[in-house]
Amino acid sequence: MTSSEIRQKFLEFFEKRGHKIVPSSSLVPENDPSVLFTTAGMQPMVAYLLGQEHPQGKRIVNSQKCFRANDIEEVGDNRHTTFFEMLGNWSFGDYFKKEQISWIFEFLTKEIKLDPKKIYVTAFIGDSAHNLPKDSETAEIWMNLFSEKGILAKEVEFGTEKNASDTGMGDGRIFYYQDKNWWSMSGNPDSMQSGEPGGPDSEMFYEFSDIEHNVSFGKYCHPNCDCGRYVEIGNSVFMEYQKKSDGSFAKLPKQNVDFGGGLERIIAASNNEPDIFKIDTLFPIIKEIERLGGKKYGENFENTKFFRIISDHIRAAVFMIADGVRPSNVERGYILRRLVRRAVVYAHKIGLSYDALAELAQIIADVYEGVYPIESKLVEIKNTLITEVDKFKDTLNKGLKEFEKGTDPFILATTYGFPFELVRELAEERGQIIDRAAFDAKMKEHQRLSRTASAGMFKGGLADHEPKTIKHHTAHHLLLVALKEVLGKDVKQRGSNITQERLRLDFSFNRKLTDEEKKKIEEIVNQKIKEGLPVIRKEMPKKEAEKLGAEMEFGGKYGDIVSVYFIGPSATPQDDAEGKAFSIEFCGGPHVTNTAELYSSSRLVPSEIEGVKSRDIGPFKILKEEAVAAGIRRIKAVVE
Ligand code: ALA
Repeated sequence: MTSSEIRQKFLEFFEKRGHKIVPSSSLVPENDPSVLFTTAGMQPMVAYLLGQEHPQGKRIVNSQKCFRANDIEEVGDNRHTTFFEMLGNWSFGDYFKKEQISWIFEFLTKEIKLDPKKIYVTAFIGDSAHNLPKDSETAEIWMNLFSEKGILAKEVEFGTEKNASDTGMGDGRIFYYQDKNWWSMSGNPDSMQSGEPGGPDSEMFYEFSDIEHNVSFGKYCHPNCDCGRYVEIGNSVFMEYQKKSDGSFAKLPKQNVDFGGGLERIIAASNNEPDIFKIDTLFPIIKEIERLGGKKYGENFENTKFFRIISDHIRAAVFMIADGVRPSNVERGYILRRLVRRAVVYAHKIGLSYDALAELAQIIADVYEGVYPIESKLVEIKNTLITEVDKFKDTLNKGLKEFEKGTDPFILATTYGFPFELVRELAEERGQIIDRAAFDAKMKEHQRLSRTASAGMFKGGLADHEPKTIKHHTAHHLLLVALKEVLGKDVKQRGSNITQERLRLDFSFNRKLTDEEKKKIEEIVNQKIKEGLPVIRKEMPKKEAEKLGAEMEFGGKYGDIVSVYFIGPSATPQDDAEGKAFSIEFCGGPHVTNTAELYSSSRLVPSEIEGVKSRDIGPFKILKEEAVAAGIRRIKAVVE
């Protein structure tokens, strides 16, 4: 079966069961500045899982474009890709376990015609530390479904993956795990943030019997073993919990279902083809690489891996560019750059010309014709790829020269942008002795540091709590209101980053600001600074804050009690209810206590402000206004 057939069958199957078909959201999250890319179909649905009504009702079905940067270095095996489509169906407080499990089993066995004997499933074993019960209800539903097919379904308990590899399959059909069967955006119950939804899940695996278990992945095979014999093809999450600020779990007001299944893996299972690069969305790209480069796919282990990496990375890059991402040294643009660079390096390794990479975009547009509008953006996509490849060609050549000279592989990786594993490979290929442990340790430290840096960057957007940073933070709140006053109330914050040097605010707006608009915005912020408005923090029920119209990040994860900052004439909640506060924002702080503190002490003191109103334009100044993505502008500003 082809991807179009299976995608269509899935949508129709659930449409017949009362679901509304919705289109895929962008790969770039529209409403959540805290993440770089849409990594799961549920991500654009968080607000609805938390209780907000979906305009299309309680049952939704779609196929969502997803990108997982975490998997960049996993690509190369038979089943991992960074970009993929996730088939999804949702119940927002409607049906639950029984319907979901029965329907998905029916879909896989009747519509896709998978042999039920090749399907193995998992369920949540429970977590006593968090008072979360074992999901025996799910196991029982599975038990009955398998027995209807004449399959005796035995349960096997693992608890941890390690136990699993000590025990193995043991003739089991339904397997209980702990961490593997809990789902939330941030992972296990411990790592979840307060206010975040999550729940036990039940995964389905397809058995590719031709693949022999490989003991380097553990003594015995089991559904979650990474050897590739059992491949996860779908996951039903029963979203019924929310983490509280004290770390405990409470039930959400409504029980939800979030199902996600990798389209390509389902196709692979339906064709009993363990290599997902052989299915109709990816194989044409592989074929084109063969045609352009003259080498055959699958000649040997290395070559297979390189073909897979190139086709995955260029496909992901094409989809990113189509959704407005452009190469850069930060955030989304950096991930795109990394994909293209890796593709260039692996093209070099299989003798594929660099120029051929941009050519692959055409095949990708053909593959998705009628599904995603790549063709209409092809010129821009190709140009972006060509420019980026050209830029890296020089770096690559320089890096290779450095490498010949014996430059430290670590420097090569971090300074010349060589993919880490490539540096290792290059060194080993040339028989250069490389202290692998030291290199790995250095790389690990480097990655840890860059992760911490980016985590810190998104956490409240503050780089540190220095006095200057705090002033910039308060100015950031004033700026957001000023933007709405000047550009219209539809302007929404899309990201922020605040340091001692400057504040940065990304917001939704689709054109360049005029000089007049920028001037007006500066005037409003400076005016509010001169007025010496008190800044007050209040904790209140989320509902109350929403009623006051507090600015929040759409889809942001908040608990029942929220922290809100008011900047206003008297700044009491009573006044705010009457609409008198200038700014009301969900925020954890910290802030100055009065906007007058934004005047630096060497320049003016608050008591002098009255007298200077007319001649001092104020400390707030916009440095730069630019586009960062389609429909997203960025302002950098300072408080001098
Ligand atoms: N949200 C679930 C997942 O991504 C379905 O696995």
